[in-house]
Amino acid sequence: EGWQERGAAATVRRETDASGQSQTRIVKKGVKDFNFGRTLGEGSYSTVLAATDRQTLKEYAIKVLDKRHIIKEKKVKYVNIERDTLNRLTEHPGIVRLYYTFQDERSLYFVLDLASGGELLGVLKKMGSFDVECTRFYGAQILDSVAYMHSRGVIHRDLKPENVLLDRDMHVKITDFGTAKILPDPRTSGAGSQEAPGDPTDGAGTDRAVSFVGTAEYVSPELLRDKNACKASDLWAFGCIIYQLLAGRPPFKAANEYLTFQKILALAYTFPDGFPDVARDLVERLLVLEPSNRLPVEHIQNHQFFDGVQWGKGLWQQKAPRLK
Ligand code: ADE
Repeated sequence: EGWQERGAAATVRRETDASGQSQTRIVKKGVKDFNFGRTLGEGSYSTVLAATDRQTLKEYAIKVLDKRHIIKEKKVKYVNIERDTLNRLTEHPGIVRLYYTFQDERSLYFVLDLASGGELLGVLKKMGSFDVECTRFYGAQILDSVAYMHSRGVIHRDLKPENVLLDRDMHVKITDFGTAKILPDPRTSGAGSQEAPGDPTDGAGTDRAVSFVGTAEYVSPELLRDKNACKASDLWAFGCIIYQLLAGRPPFKAANEYLTFQKILALAYTFPDGFPDVARDLVERLLVLEPSNRLPVEHIQNHQFFDGVQWGKGLWQQKAPRLK
């Protein structure tokens, strides 16, 4: 069928047989090991279902992808990118973890962390906007997660409040890596190699880089201008999200995509009355047309807006602030 088994986690089970001999068996999880429940979300090529592991009773979200549809629409590459990036990003609480993959005749299955709090977008819509304390907390968790993925050589390329899920503790879980880009390993790809534009080693990349545009409102100017995304493109999107959490709407929004793109390229946005000065200063240092002039992650963490935030482990042991 051409669907590769790669990096799929399996359970190691030690059993004692009838003669008292200890045996180790590797058991691959499959459809039969889960009870499937309610639908959590639907995309063009997939459905996400709540599911429970029959043995452990642990709850998961299982993304079910339709193989025929994916082949017909030539999306095999993106499915592989999603699996490969998630397999690279297993050591951080702010990223949806991929536990198992398996398949049957019809479908591929990705067993993921369940984020029972739903999308940050839904919570934001219910509240209208967030206060500074909530924006600081969710902003910090998003930034810590982005810093981790960048350190692992992954650019998300479609960060937005719909792709920021919340778990039962209202902590961030970033999802949807189907349009991510894996950067070539700087240790193995030649002297000083960073991300050359149109780099032919950019496996997933080149033809996607020219055809791919994320979600209009969060797309960076360099992607529109040069069809090239870099780590700083995620920080542009992060600036849009900080603005949106405080203002209740994204900075660049127009009647259609074309007009939205024109606003982005002209940096045509304004702050609503009452937008906090310190947050305004941060957003102005992120929504910068030239990607190399955007504030890098370490400087964002040290910006006055994030004063008092404990970066790293402590951030994930904190109780989420009550939404206001
Ligand atoms: N919708 C899409 N992915 C999800 C997940 N991992 N948890 C909850 N809802 C989701």
